[in-house]
Amino acid sequence: MVFGKKEIVGLDIGSSAIKLAELKEGRNGYQLKNIGETLLPPEAIVNKVIINSGAVVDTISTLVKDLGVKTKDVAISISGHSVIIKKVSIPQMSEKELREAIPWELEQNIPHSIDNVNYDFQILPGESQEGNMDVLIVAAKKDVTEDYIAVANEAGLNPVVVDVDVFALENMFEINYPLTDEVLALINIGASVTNINILKGGVSIFARDITAGGRQFTEWIQKEFNIGYDEAEKMKYSLGLTGISKDLDRITRDFADLICGEIERTIDFFTTTTSQKETVRKIVLGGGSSKVPYIKEQLVERIGASVEIVNPFKNIIHDPRDFDPEYILDIAPKMGVVIGLALRRKGDK
Ligand SMILES: Nc1ncnc2c1ncn2[C@@H]1O[C@H](COP(=O)(O)OP(=O)(O)OP(=O)(O)O)[C@@H](O)[C@H]1O
Ligand SMILES: [Mg+2]
Repeated sequence: MVFGKKEIVGLDIGSSAIKLAELKEGRNGYQLKNIGETLLPPEAIVNKVIINSGAVVDTISTLVKDLGVKTKDVAISISGHSVIIKKVSIPQMSEKELREAIPWELEQNIPHSIDNVNYDFQILPGESQEGNMDVLIVAAKKDVTEDYIAVANEAGLNPVVVDVDVFALENMFEINYPLTDEVLALINIGASVTNINILKGGVSIFARDITAGGRQFTEWIQKEFNIGYDEAEKMKYSLGLTGISKDLDRITRDFADLICGEIERTIDFFTTTTSQKETVRKIVLGGGSSKVPYIKEQLVERIGASVEIVNPFKNIIHDPRDFDPEYILDIAPKMGVVIGLALRRKGDK
């Protein structure tokens, strides 16, 4: 019997769908074992808060069953309002001293009581101001985290890693793309949240979730055409395909304006607050809503960066006999988080 590294399943509990990915680590790298997605009803998760946990549990169970997943250990992640990521510059100290200083730093930097959050931190490599070091602090609201763990538990799964979306994306990026000194932004436009993680030399120097995404666009379409959620979602999928009506084109542009404006503001904030006045030269874009027309072009124009659509399967072996290449190509942009989660191993922070 061979005792390899224990593999775990990536489970992305998004607000529009549940996604699952299973990877196998072999001599030639990672291989795709399983991938899939099941849509959630619209009211199940609203603004990243689990409203109808029964529906979420059922959807997870269905997906696990349909894909024939046997592994119970999963990595999940959270994002949005309940996650705070801050970089602080503090005097050089030992890891032990830092551990004692972190609660105080947290109190200064987050709007929640420290008793209500789970937190972690990481000393960032590279230069800081003289005598100081940069530390990245991540805090997540306990009650929200517990809700996400609970739905996975109720679906018969065992969450062994609880990550945040932006770091799952970073993990996915690391194994698929070569290391570069360039300042680049990983941007994932989902249904409720847009995750932004700015990397320099492969290390995160700024990360933030904007609470805006494709759900808002769906709501605009519903109102404009007086239709239900499912029909509005379908209409979105046809956007890139056929000649669309003037009204739909107008709200598509409005949505691209809204999202790209928010992204631009966040990147401007990063540029003006970073000590070295870094500018983002490249954007690696993903998330289901990255497919909305005009977004890519607007980002090129507003940020002045090149924009490339992410491919989380770039360095992952996937047998075309098991996975239809056309299907993989279609789902790739929205699978960044779940692939990052599937790369986690038991015992990871
Ligand atoms: N082809 C497409 N054109 C336009 N929008 C699309 C397309 N495909 C998916 N979307 C939109 O992308 C969103 C889903 O993206 P994604 O799967 O990344 O979100 P999520 O992970 O469920 O949400 P979140 O992370 O915000 O909780 C939905 O709003 C959906 O309507
Ligand atoms: Mg998501």
